[in-house]
Amino acid sequence: QTSQVVQVNGGGQSLTADKIVNMMPVTKRNPRDYIFGKVIGEGSYSTVYLAKDIHTNREHAIKVCEKQQIIREKKREQVRREKDALNILSNSGSSLFVKLYCTFQDAERLYFVMSYAKNGDLLPYINKVGSFDAACTRFYSGEILRALEHLHDLNIMHRDLKPENILLDHNMHIKVADFGCSKILEQPDAVDKSILDENNPRQRSNSFVGTAQYVSPELLTEKTISPSSDLWALGCIIYQMIAGLPPFRSRSEYMLFKKILNLDYVYPDGFNADAKDLVQKLLVLDPNERLGTKDDQRYTSIRSHPFYNGLDFDTLHVTNPPPIY
Ligand code: ADE
Repeated sequence: QTSQVVQVNGGGQSLTADKIVNMMPVTKRNPRDYIFGKVIGEGSYSTVYLAKDIHTNREHAIKVCEKQQIIREKKREQVRREKDALNILSNSGSSLFVKLYCTFQDAERLYFVMSYAKNGDLLPYINKVGSFDAACTRFYSGEILRALEHLHDLNIMHRDLKPENILLDHNMHIKVADFGCSKILEQPDAVDKSILDENNPRQRSNSFVGTAQYVSPELLTEKTISPSSDLWALGCIIYQMIAGLPPFRSRSEYMLFKKILNLDYVYPDGFNADAKDLVQKLLVLDPNERLGTKDDQRYTSIRSHPFYNGLDFDTLHVTNPPPIY
């Protein structure tokens, strides 16, 4: 009997709370299974609460969406995208993404029970220190690159990658979140008409709520859907880690879009030379010419860029992150 249990449990690995919960009979959960605490995030159609599972005592982030609001604001597609992408990623076993444990609903609301990233998002860390040193930039952009490799290997595009969507767990490793704008691709170069569809103006304007600072030129013009748009966002994030602010900034969205389409940005004095070379190879207007787009599976050409000299990408998740000063 004992050996059978060990066998089921993956060849002698210890039983963790996760595994025990996975072995429990599957009954649909409901809000009474959790004690809801403080608000830890707010989106355009959802509120995220810190909550404790009364059965396991584990902390979770629970995203709560008001059904009426979703219908009123025509966000059904966004909610479905988020659930589909999170399900695929959760089943893939990667620790680089928030995990979706379960979903349930009551008469008024939808609930997404996710992993809780204790240290919040990346943006306040960048803002607090002004800018990251090379070691921090290398580490955190390296983890983001690994997340993109995994995501794109599963044919998922994030499409809203930005520091606010990069969460940090208790060990200060990243967990990519917020898949409401994501797209699961059938073919790598499929065209998604829903984003900029003239016949669907509401969808169009809603695609750009919040900040558009990380939006790639092809998302603004051509309607082309390709994973390369996430590499553009990665370029913007690397720039921001080093310079302290994103490369494209403007008070008006019109001017911001114009700057993006004209590749109108500058590097501040003292910007790390290798990082500058890397960012220049990612912030390329033609999505097919960005560094990495011709790689398959892994972004080997980005991994082997001089900026990442000496970084072991394969062990990043078990490496102690460099402290953020
Ligand atoms: N804010 C939004 N989602 C979150 C999560 N999973 N963990 C922590 N904070 C969050």
